Amino acid sequence: MIKQAPALQVNGIQKSFGGVPVLHSVSFDVPSGHVTALAGENGAGKSTLMKIISGQITADAGVVTLFGQTLEQGNPILSRRSGVSIVPQELSPYPDLTIYENLFVGREIRNRIGLLNHSEMQKQARQMLEIFGLDLNPKIKMNRLSVAATQLVEITKATSWGARILLLDEPTSAIPDREVDQLYKVVRTLRKQNVAMIYTTHRMVEIQELADSVVVLRDGNLALNVPIKEADESKIVHSMVGRDLEKLTSAKINVSAKKRIEISNLQLDKKSEPISFDIAQGEILGLGGLIGAGRTEIVESIFGIRKARSGIVIIDGIEVNIGSPSQSIKAGVAFVPEDRKGAGLVLSRSVVDNASLPHIREFSRSGWVNFGARNNAINKAVKAVNLRSRGLSQLVGTLSGGNQQKIVLARWLTQDVKLLILDEPTRGVDVGARSEIYSIIRKLASEGMSVLLVSSDMPELIGMSHRVLVIRSGGIAGELNRTELNRDDAQIKIFEFASGQEKEDINV
Ligand SMILES: Nc1ncnc2c1ncn2[C@@H]1O[C@H](COP(=O)(O)OP(=O)(O)OP(=O)(O)O)[C@@H](O)[C@H]1O
Ligand SMILES: [Mg+2]
Repeated sequence: MIKQAPALQVNGIQKSFGGVPVLHSVSFDVPSGHVTALAGENGAGKSTLMKIISGQITADAGVVTLFGQTLEQGNPILSRRSGVSIVPQELSPYPDLTIYENLFVGREIRNRIGLLNHSEMQKQARQMLEIFGLDLNPKIKMNRLSVAATQLVEITKATSWGARILLLDEPTSAIPDREVDQLYKVVRTLRKQNVAMIYTTHRMVEIQELADSVVVLRDGNLALNVPIKEADESKIVHSMVGRDLEKLTSAKINVSAKKRIEISNLQLDKKSEPISFDIAQGEILGLGGLIGAGRTEIVESIFGIRKARSGIVIIDGIEVNIGSPSQSIKAGVAFVPEDRKGAGLVLSRSVVDNASLPHIREFSRSGWVNFGARNNAINKAVKAVNLRSRGLSQLVGTLSGGNQQKIVLARWLTQDVKLLILDEPTRGVDVGARSEIYSIIRKLASEGMSVLLVSSDMPELIGMSHRVLVIRSGGIAGELNRTELNRDDAQIKIFEFASGQEKEDINV
C-alpha cells in the first residue's frame, strides 16, 4: 500500500540571525486533520519556524515539503497558493478599513465593469463570520474592535483562503479564557475538514484541549515530539524550561492598612456608573470582568491617556492632574498597557533606549545622558525580567514577542513607582517567565508599591490579587476579598458578577 505523504514536513530546518543560531536542524511532520501544538519559551524559535513555512523568510538549511512536494522557500505568495495560511503573532489589520474590506484585501470582488462590489463582499463577509459564530457587523471599522475580536477576524481571513495547512501563532494570547471556546470550535471544525494545523500557545489547558501531538522547541532544538496522550503538563513544561516550576500560590493577606491611592467618582461616560475605590500600600488590587466591560478604559483614564467624564485620583493625599500622563508619571504612576505596539515600544530602537524611554531625564545632567548609570539601571531591570536578548543594543523589533512584553514591564522597574498599573501583563509570556514576573510583582508590592492588575487569566487574577473588583459596563458589579478568593467558587462568583447573573440574596 502506498503511504500518503503528510500534509507538512519540516526536515532539518536551520536558521541563524547575524551568526546566532535560532533553529538547529528541526524536523517533524504534521498530517492532515491533525493539530500539533508548538510550545517553547519566549525566544525558542517558534515564530521563526512558522515564518519559514509561510515563506516570509528562508531557512539556512533544510526543506519544507507539502504533501511530499518540496516548497520553494521565501515566497509567501507561493506558500499561500500551495495551501499554507498563517495568522501571525503580531496582527496587522488595516484599522481604518471595515471588517469586510479587511477580509477581502488583495482579492476584492468587482462587478462586470470593474467597480468594487461592496454589497457582495459584505454578504460574503457576513457568511464567513457566521461559519465561526461571530456576530459582528462587517461594515464596522477594524479599529472599533477589541483585540480579541480583531484576532478572530484575522483567523476568519486566514482560513477563508481555503488553507490546507494553517499556522496559528499564539491565536489566543489576546483572548480571555471565557471567549476562547469560540476559537476551539473553529479549530475543531477545521480539523474535521482535514486541515493540518500548527498551534502555538503558552497555555497548557489549550494544548490538552486541542492538540493531537506536542512539539517543544528549546533554544532552537527539538526537545519533545510526542502524541498528546504521552505528554502531561509537567512533561511539557520540563522540556520547555528544563526544570520544574512552582505553582502559583495565593496572595497572602497581610497588607498595610494605609490607603495610598484613592480613586473617586471616576465616570467613563454618561451611561456608566461613577466608581470609587482605594488601594492600600502594598496591595495588589485585581480588576476582573468580561471583554469590553471597561477595565482597560478605567486604567487608561487613571493614567491619563484617556479622557474620563469625571474623576479624581489622589496619591498620598495629593490630587493628581487626571488626564495628563506626564503628570501621572511624575506623581509615581506607571502603566503597562495591554497592547505593546501601542505601549510606545519603538521597534527600530535598542533594548536600552526602549527600557529607559519614560525616564531618560533621570539619567541626564544638563542635557547629557550618563550612559554608564543608565546601562547599570537597565541591566538590572532586564535581568529582573529574565530578558532573552543578545545584549542591550539589540533592536526591540528583532526580539521574540514575549521578550518585547518583558521590556514594557522592565522599563518601570527602575524608578520610584507608587502605583503600578498592569493591563494583562503576562499575555504571550511563557510559563517560566510568567512565574518570574509574578514574583517580581509580589516583591514590588511587598516593598510598598500599590498594584492595579487587570487580568482575564483567572488563575492569575485569583492567585495574585489581595482583592478583586469585578467590572461590568464601566461600573463595579462586585467585590471579592482574599477569604472569598480562596474559596473554590471564586471563579464562578467573578463570572456571575461579570455577566450580571449574580443571584439576589433572598430574604425570607
Ligand atoms: N529578524 C531578526 N533578527 C535578529 N534576531 C531575530 C530576528 N527574528 C527573531 N530573532 C531572534 O530569534 C529568536 C527566536 O525568536 P522567535 O520570534 O522565533 O521566538 P518565539 O519562540 O516565537 O518566542 P515568543 O514566545 O516570545 O513569541 C529570538 O532570540 C529572537 O530575538
Ligand atoms: Mg513567537
